[in-house]
Amino acid sequence: MTTQITPLIAGNWKMNGISASLGEVRRLAEMLATGEAPRCTIAICPPATLLSQLNAIAAPSGIVIGGQDCHPMPSGAHTGDISAHMLADAGAQCVIVGHSERRARYGETDDLVRGKAVAAMTAGLIPIICVGETEAERQSGRAEEVVSSQLANSVPEQIGQLGIVVAYEPVWAIGTGVTPTSDDIAQMHGTIRRLLTERYGETGARTRILYGGSMKPANAREILAIENVNGGLIGGASLLANDFHAIISAV
Ligand code: PGA
Repeated sequence: MTTQITPLIAGNWKMNGISASLGEVRRLAEMLATGEAPRCTIAICPPATLLSQLNAIAAPSGIVIGGQDCHPMPSGAHTGDISAHMLADAGAQCVIVGHSERRARYGETDDLVRGKAVAAMTAGLIPIICVGETEAERQSGRAEEVVSSQLANSVPEQIGQLGIVVAYEPVWAIGTGVTPTSDDIAQMHGTIRRLLTERYGETGARTRILYGGSMKPANAREILAIENVNGGLIGGASLLANDFHAIISAV
């Protein structure tokens, strides 16, 4: 049985974008208004400084906005941090947690990522929980073991009504222009689907599993056609309206 899942194409702007970049979102909104209706949900996760402004431009086109990270606590003495509640207040509907750049550079553990995902759900946001192996882990044949363990420990025990999104992002594919083979993606997404379904039943069967890592207009169609790939988390190619629109059109 296959469950119908509306794909999600989510842009992760990372530490890119100032108010001048909003022109790209205006262009994207125009393209969406004049072209064929998209066959997916579209999200953009800009730097937090742009959330409110971007929301004003994106919301009329049905584009959802999201954060790139949040703190596990709702408020308090955490200089420089941002809570899920604040993101929601700025108009966000989702938030990326556990991106490999944060896991690697800030030592974020599965426990912390799970706490962030719980905080996101508590604030009414959908957490986009990232998992993925490093190049060394893949080369030593441990990719599935690593991703399974991240999944088991980063995804909260209880999933709320809004659900969660899982993003499989092999670390070695992020920003490198290199992607796994379609067979490798199919195998990993199949494993993630099996583990989610075993643990959460119907909710797991319906959970979106995104692929992320060097997805671009040239490879989007092929990747998005793979079984259990329910959309993409797109970094570099989400910064320009033309590229991002081409990926949206590939769904
Ligand atoms: P990339 O980034 O598309 O630039 O490889 C993806 C991500 O890190 O989410």
